[in-house]
Amino acid sequence: MLDIKITRTASPKAKPQDESKLGFGKIFSDHMFVMDYTAGQGWHDARIVPYGPFQIDPATTVLHYAQEIFEGMKAYRTADGTIQLFRPDCNAKRMQDSADRLCIPTIPEEDYIQAVKAIVDVDRDWVPHADGASLYIRPFVFATDVGLGVHASHHYTFCIICSPSGAYYAEGINPVRIYVEDDYIRAAPGLTGFTKCGGNYAASIKAGELAEEQGYAQVLWLDGVEKKYVEEVGSMNIMFKIDGKVYTAATVGTVLPGVTRRSCIELLKDWGYEVIEGKLAIADVMKAAQEGKLEEVFGTGTAAVVSPVKELVWKGEHAYIGDGKIGPVTQKLYDTMTGMQWGRLPDTKGWIVPVEKVY
Ligand SMILES: Cc1ncc(COP(=O)(O)O)c(C=O)c1O
Repeated sequence: MLDIKITRTASPKAKPQDESKLGFGKIFSDHMFVMDYTAGQGWHDARIVPYGPFQIDPATTVLHYAQEIFEGMKAYRTADGTIQLFRPDCNAKRMQDSADRLCIPTIPEEDYIQAVKAIVDVDRDWVPHADGASLYIRPFVFATDVGLGVHASHHYTFCIICSPSGAYYAEGINPVRIYVEDDYIRAAPGLTGFTKCGGNYAASIKAGELAEEQGYAQVLWLDGVEKKYVEEVGSMNIMFKIDGKVYTAATVGTVLPGVTRRSCIELLKDWGYEVIEGKLAIADVMKAAQEGKLEEVFGTGTAAVVSPVKELVWKGEHAYIGDGKIGPVTQKLYDTMTGMQWGRLPDTKGWIVPVEKVY
C-alpha cells in the first residue's frame, strides 16, 4: 500500500465549459501522480502534486535512448455520478510486461491501481459529464539517470496525468479507410511490439503520416518477417469477420495485447461466435472480400472502443467491406462495452472498478 502525500493546487484551472469541444489529449487536469525509483531503494515518494513541467537535465537518458513505457485507460462518469474504471488490472499487468522488456523496474499491480484511483479521485471533478466523454488517463515511466551511455537507468519516474477528452464519435460512428502497409514494419519477433514503449510509436509515425496524406485513417501493419499476415492497426487491434467467424492476430510478441481486444473476444465467445486467434494472410482477407465473405472489419482500442473499417487498400488493390456502414456485430460490441463502461448496462463480467471518494 502506497503512502501517497497530497499537495493540492492553490490555483485550480477553470474546467472546460463546452465539453463538445474537448477533443483528445489537449487539456489536462489540476494534478498529477508522481513516484520515483532509485536503485537499491525501490519506488518511493508517492505523491499527488499540482500538474506542471518536470525539470530535466539535457543528458537524461530517456531523451537519448528512449527507455520509456506508458499506458492508456479511461475513467467514466455514470448517470448516478459514480466514477469508474474499466479493467485497470489489465493495464497494470501490461505495464509490468512492458517494464520487464525495457529493463524498467515493475510497479506492483495494487500500487498501480491505487495510484490511478488516487489521481482520479483527487481530480474527479475533471471527469466529463457529456455523453461519451471521459477522463483519459496516461500513466508513464521514464528513465532519469543523467549521463550518456546505453545502460539500464538506476533512476526512474512514474507519473500519471489525466486529460478530459470528448466523445470519440461526436458525429456518429464513421467507418474508416485503412492503408495496408507493405514497406515499413512496426514489429518483429524478439523486438518490442507487445509493449507500450514510446519507441514503437516513434517508429510508426512515418507510415502513419504517409497514409494520412493519401486519405487513410490509419495503417494496418503486416508481420515484420514476411509482410504477409495481418497484425494490428496504428493504435488498435483489428478483427475480421469472415463467413461467420472472427479472426484476429494472436498476441505472441509482435502485437500489443489490447484490453479492448481481450474484452471483445470474451464477449464474442459468450455470444457463441468462433474466434480464431492466429495467422491471417492479407491475401486471404482480400480474397474473402472478392467472394463477398468479408462481413465486418473493426479495430478495437480504448479510445474508440470499436472502429468499423469500410475499405482496405493493399498494393493498390481495394477491398470494400459490407455496405460501408457499421456491421451488426461491431455495433453490438460497441453498445455492450460502452454500456458497461458508462454504467448503462450491468457489469456482468466483473470488469468495472469504482473509484471511491477517499481524498
Ligand atoms: C499499437 C496499439 N495496439 C492496440 C491498442 C489497443 O489497446 P487497448 O485496447 O488496451 O487500448 C493500442 C492502444 O493502446 C495501441 O496503441
